Amino acid sequence: MLAEPFNWHPGMWNMLIVAMCLAFLGCLQAQELQGHVSIILLGATGDLAKKYLWQGLFQLYLDEAGRGHSFSFHGAALTAPRQGQELMAKALESLSCPKDMAPSHCAEHKDQFLQLSQYRQLKTAEDYQALNKDIKAQLQHTGLREAGRIFYFSVPPFAYEDIARNINSSCRPGPGAWLRVVLEKPFGHDHFSARQLATELGTFFQEEEMYRVDHYLGKQAVAQILPFRDQNRKALDGLWNRHHVERVEIIMKETVDAEGRTGFYEEYGVIRDVLQNHLTEVLTLVAMELPHNVSSAEAVLRHKLQVFQALRGLQRGSAIVGQYQSYSEQVRRELQKPDSFHSLTPTFAAVLVHIDNLRWEGVPFILMSGKALDERVGYARILFKNQACCVQSEKHWAAAQSQCLPRQLVFHIGHGDLGSPAVLVSRNLFRPSLPSSWKEMEGPPGLRLFGSPLSDYYAYSPVQERDAHSVLLSHIFHGRKDFFITTENLLASWDFWTPLLESLAHKAPRLYPGGAENGRLLDFEFSSGRLFFSQQQPEQLVPGPGPAPMPSDFQVLRAKYRESPLVSAWSEELISKLANDIEATAVRAVRRFGQFHLALSGGSSPVALFQQLATAHYGFPWAHTHLWLVDERCVPLSDPESNFQGLQAHLLQHVRIPYYNIHPMPVHLQQRLCAEEDQGAQIYAREISALVANSSFDLVLLGMGADGHTASLFPQSPTGLDGEQLVVLTTSPSQPHRRMSLSLPLINRAKKVAVLVMGRMKREITTLVSRVGHEPKKWPISGVLPHSGQLVWYMDYDAFLG
Ligand code: BG6
Repeated sequence: MLAEPFNWHPGMWNMLIVAMCLAFLGCLQAQELQGHVSIILLGATGDLAKKYLWQGLFQLYLDEAGRGHSFSFHGAALTAPRQGQELMAKALESLSCPKDMAPSHCAEHKDQFLQLSQYRQLKTAEDYQALNKDIKAQLQHTGLREAGRIFYFSVPPFAYEDIARNINSSCRPGPGAWLRVVLEKPFGHDHFSARQLATELGTFFQEEEMYRVDHYLGKQAVAQILPFRDQNRKALDGLWNRHHVERVEIIMKETVDAEGRTGFYEEYGVIRDVLQNHLTEVLTLVAMELPHNVSSAEAVLRHKLQVFQALRGLQRGSAIVGQYQSYSEQVRRELQKPDSFHSLTPTFAAVLVHIDNLRWEGVPFILMSGKALDERVGYARILFKNQACCVQSEKHWAAAQSQCLPRQLVFHIGHGDLGSPAVLVSRNLFRPSLPSSWKEMEGPPGLRLFGSPLSDYYAYSPVQERDAHSVLLSHIFHGRKDFFITTENLLASWDFWTPLLESLAHKAPRLYPGGAENGRLLDFEFSSGRLFFSQQQPEQLVPGPGPAPMPSDFQVLRAKYRESPLVSAWSEELISKLANDIEATAVRAVRRFGQFHLALSGGSSPVALFQQLATAHYGFPWAHTHLWLVDERCVPLSDPESNFQGLQAHLLQHVRIPYYNIHPMPVHLQQRLCAEEDQGAQIYAREISALVANSSFDLVLLGMGADGHTASLFPQSPTGLDGEQLVVLTTSPSQPHRRMSLSLPLINRAKKVAVLVMGRMKREITTLVSRVGHEPKKWPISGVLPHSGQLVWYMDYDAFLG
């Protein structure tokens, strides 16, 4: 039975705390009490609390009470006191002690914990004020110094703001004591909502007061990634890079489905629920540059953010999605949807991630998770390349030691055939060193994991298995922030995932039956930056919004636009067609003239093209290609706004092009930007005249702005539309205003001009420009017509058909 809230005699509290302190052996020698900690669990009767949090708090109490702290635990919810107390008592029934604790001790500690745990209704501002008053009264009566308060938000995010406001206005501890608020995901739905939520919380709490939980960071195998990398630096230093790593798989498979929580799941889906947080966190721990001090929260965060910066943007083709067959039916039932309702929410996803930095360039990172799969298991597997050739036949290979056997390192998060967290290192890699809290393990005989018998690995498991939430509660108590998600970390992750989520919003997931029956249906492959299912979809099972796409929709359409050839297709097909055409033009030019002069525009449309050229065009004659800029913003070349920077990030750093063939526009001379006196435009024009025969580029790639601008030639501005100048300084209506651009006459000297137009936003201008004549002053794009070259329009269906 739980005690009534705070109507005790003050002396009783004192006696209780002293009695409990004495109950701990360690406490006999304990220094004087280090202070009192109040822990307020909001949502104390909810699922998470029942399953993990009360047990975690009990463990915290067992671990810390003997070390000189005193505690009070306040279970809180909206429910009225009597009913709430009953529910909480139920939640507390199944507390368990560590295996090695004697039953009598266990019962004693449990009893003490229950006495310190009280239910209270927290609904109104007055309830919070009363809580504060009670805590203060307790402290006064017992004469204890307050160490701090922990508020654990185990509540849905819509309740955050109210609770946060109340805590901030009436439940902050006095001077010298800390406040820690613990938040559970979801932290937003996309970049925008996450930022909004973060800003909102930021008005109530300091960053250092907030502990955003990703419970995967509390999983023992995940928490071991950085310490393992640190402790085995010597062995891993030479191996942890693109030269040795074949690929990295970060996987979380589940057998359960979403039944009973479709209300939540329908809004989030597997990418938001698991990939954006748990798997991304694991990815950063595997991929980050190892800080000197792996326990410095600040250094870990900095290195994590560097990984986010190096992540290559995801395309629609970077992911495949699926949905277990009974999901829509569960949604209809649980959310009272009509019979005609079909959900597009993915319950399975696999995503191919690339990290564009020196260490990981070219190494595929595969993130995959799903519900209703054949097994429950989680791991991060680093598979190494096998560069050895064994001369003797296989029968002479030393068991487990041969360099020709697979070489892998696995952080086994849990479950699966192994049934526990583990770290596995192929014996032919190196003998790892682990802390004493990990021991060598043996599995059931005959067990095979990741293609090898368990005996082929050095295998370690934790001496004592601990639940993630209990690990994290201990870190919160000790103020260790490196196990939590900071605002910057959170927003960087959403920044990465949001574009993919948007591009998949209307994609029909592949249906799968669930469990073992999935067979090979979800198997997938990857190449050239794309993922695809290995097997064809048997049939279109989920009707998407609008008619199901037909195979003919994906064929490239050829027509005319403004009397020039038009190539139109869905964006991916279009980009691939354009990239092929550019390569063919390049190969022809190099064959005939020994070199290929290509002038490229900046902006967002060509990014996918650059990536395609960078990753899928091995026959491209880069060594003989000269790259020029069509236009540039007057910012330093290292500025993210710079067109050159985009080119550098998405193309140049991935291809082998001689430095002397790269020709950025000279917008930054004498430490100033686009000053007329510096004559940057003239310098560029002279460079073109000197290197490009007749100043006639082999290919100029242009875009078309929603206002009809092209290059940096803008409507209502005569600069660069005619005359002798090859390169001009212009003014854009949007920031940064100052630009440098090839002039229209120079563009029209090109042998070929390709205009790439993509996205719905271009629909209107596409229609308009199709009807206008030669009016470059109003629509500079209408002045593009090479004198003796060819003009080809490349438009995706969104831009062309709307
Ligand atoms: C949660 C997700 O974060 O993680 C659930 O919301 C998922 O959908 C769960 O089932 C898996 O966690 P664990 O600890 O069981 O691997």
